[in-house]
Parts: sequence; structure tokens; C-alpha cells
Amino acid sequence: MSIPLSAPDITESDIEAVVDVLRTPRLSIGPRVVEFEQSMAEAAGVPYGIAVSSGTAALHLCLCALGIGEGDEVILPSFTFIAAGNAVLYQRAKPVFVDIERTTLNLDPGRLEEKITARTRAIIVVHTFGHPADLDPILDVARKHGLAVIEDACEAIGAQYRGRSVGGIGDLGVFGFYPNKPITTGEGGMVVTRHSHLAETIRALRNQGRRASDGWLEHSLLGYNYRLSEINCALGIAQMKRLGAILEAREAVAVRYAKEFQKIPEVTVPPLKIAGGRVCWFVFVIRLAARFTHADRDSICDQLTAQGIGCGRYFAPLHLQPLFAEYANSRDGLSLTEQVADRTLALPFFNSLTDEQITQVCRCLRGAIRDVSQRGVRACPAQSHS
Ligand SMILES: Cc1ncc(COP(=O)(O)O)c(C=O)c1O
Repeated sequence: MSIPLSAPDITESDIEAVVDVLRTPRLSIGPRVVEFEQSMAEAAGVPYGIAVSSGTAALHLCLCALGIGEGDEVILPSFTFIAAGNAVLYQRAKPVFVDIERTTLNLDPGRLEEKITARTRAIIVVHTFGHPADLDPILDVARKHGLAVIEDACEAIGAQYRGRSVGGIGDLGVFGFYPNKPITTGEGGMVVTRHSHLAETIRALRNQGRRASDGWLEHSLLGYNYRLSEINCALGIAQMKRLGAILEAREAVAVRYAKEFQKIPEVTVPPLKIAGGRVCWFVFVIRLAARFTHADRDSICDQLTAQGIGCGRYFAPLHLQPLFAEYANSRDGLSLTEQVADRTLALPFFNSLTDEQITQVCRCLRGAIRDVSQRGVRACPAQSHS
């Protein structure tokens, strides 16, 4: 039995919602976009939502709307997905990487101020793997230096920080709906904000630079086609109606995994509970003990893959990517990022993952750990590949 890394949760009513749109003449710029935007804004506790074609597009438009451009610096963690770094480069701004903290693997607020210069304009805070970042001290630093805060909540829909929904706490928040996410629209993204002027600008930028008062062939701004179709939004609306149940199902999977890992001392699991907050279980990323190397982790990952078990090396730090080589000077103080990135492994994680599958993943993982510890290669005990 092969077990994928992730799997979308699509019900018959999701399918009906999509098919219903196909029976109408309105496939883009229609009522479903508006409804999906409203449901996301409401979930984030802010007045405005702007649906876009991806989480990456959402990040890009946030930086555009803030007027960030050449010569500006944007602070972000290196331990994240490439999208945030790319969005900074799209604007010809400079990414400045900051280290993470050990528990949640999010940007370390205590390391933030040392990265601020006269050119710093914004901070991108990522709620990594759905664990809320410690936003209050980050917001304090941002206010002190007059910086904008963008929350990259692409992995964290429904997560809570001190009783508030992530995405709606900073100046701008961003969600993503790729199929590995808890809520999917196939492809898609969303910006949420409480600032009307930013919402208006982002709305214009995603639609070829047309302001609300512009006609179809009038373009006030240099914009993009980052629109999300009615078809995608219909799926998003239907999925959002099940957000609570989806988050609960994923939390139950995380709890089951954590129980299994009590028997595997070489592995640290992510914290199940956050004081005053809630995790959105996007993925289940374990950390191998310090004695394991990058090569050990890769060997474990390769063995799991060979046994039909999906796994991911989350994340390869941005500052070590060839694309970001010229920003290598910001490598200073990224030692925890590098240590963690060498030893993290994402395991299969989706709503319908069964107890039996979890047991199988953990059995294979134990075998692979034993194997690298002995520096040999061995098959998973309970796995047949017919
Ligand atoms: C933290 C984070 N930010 C941004 C993105 C980009 O989202 P998309 O793939 O929809 O462009 C992702 C996607 O996986 C992500 O995990």
C-alpha cells in the first residue's frame, strides 16, 4: 500500500458546487469570487479579502501594493517555501534572512532588530507548517521602525495566535489553496487586510491594473492577470463550509502520530498545543536527533520513498539556493535554520490518513532510522511492493 505525502479532501458537495458553476455563463469575475472573499475575510477577522491565482501571486501583490521596489529590503525567514523570497525578487527588492526559533520553527522575534537597516520596508512572517508565529513582539518591532507586516499564512488557515486568527493580525495576510493545503481550490490564493486602500490597490493590481472606476480597457496601474475563476472559488466556498471539521480531522491525525512517536526516541515531534493559540495541521514535520546528518535524513527519506511512503525534505533554506547566492551575506546568524533544515522530514499527512497507515509509516521510519544508524540499507519489515 503506497501512502502519499498529501491528499485533497473533496466531497460530492464540493464537486456539485463546481459543476453548478459550469452550468452558468459566468466563469470568472462573478458572485462566487465575492462570496469566497467574504468567507476568507470573515475567517481572518478583517473586512477585506481579495482572491488571486496563487499564494505566490498574493505575496507579490502585497509587496506591490506597499510600494516596495528596487533598493528596499524585506526581512523574512530563510526556513520557508521559495514563494516569499521570489516575491521580494519580483520587486527587485533585497531579501534579508533572519533565523528561526527552535520550537515552532518560525521567525525568531529576538533576532529581528539586528537585521533592520535604513532600507528595511517590510517583514514577511511565515506561520510555518501551520504553527502560529509569535506575532506580538514582531509587531512591536515593526511599529517601532515603521515597517509593514505581511503574514504568510499559506500553510495556516484557521490557526490562532492569542485568540486571534492568523492572517488578519498584520497589515496584510496571505493564504494559499494548492491541493496539499487543508482547504484547496486546485490553485489559488487570497489576500486579507483591514486596510481599505491596500485592498483597493490589490484588487486593481490583480485585474490588469483596473481601478474600480476604470472601464474594461482603462488601466490606472501596471497590473497583472492574477484573477481566480468562479470555478475555483466555488470549490473554495464549499471547502470553507467544512473548515472546522477539516481542522479537527487533521488535528486528530497529528495526535495519533504523536502517540506513535513516543516509541521513537530519535525523533522530536512538533508541539501539539500552543498556549493561547491553535495549530492548523498542514503537514507533520518531524526532527531527527542532533546526531543525524543531512545525508542520514536524505537516506531515510529515500528509503521511505522506495517503500511507497511519501515524504518531503521541508524546507531547503532559501539562503542556500543558487537563486539567492548574491544575498549570502545575510547568511550570518542562520545556524539554527541550517541545523533544522538538515534534520526535518515531512511525513504523509492528510485528513483521511488511517491508524493503520500511520502505524505503517512509523514502522518503516523506525526501520530506516535503524538502518542509517547502522550505515546499511534494509527493507521495510512490513512492506511488500507487489
Ligand atoms: C509558506 C508558503 N508560502 C507561499 C506559498 C505559495 O503558494 P502557491 O503555491 O499557491 O503559490 C506556499 C505554497 O506551498 C507556502 O507553503
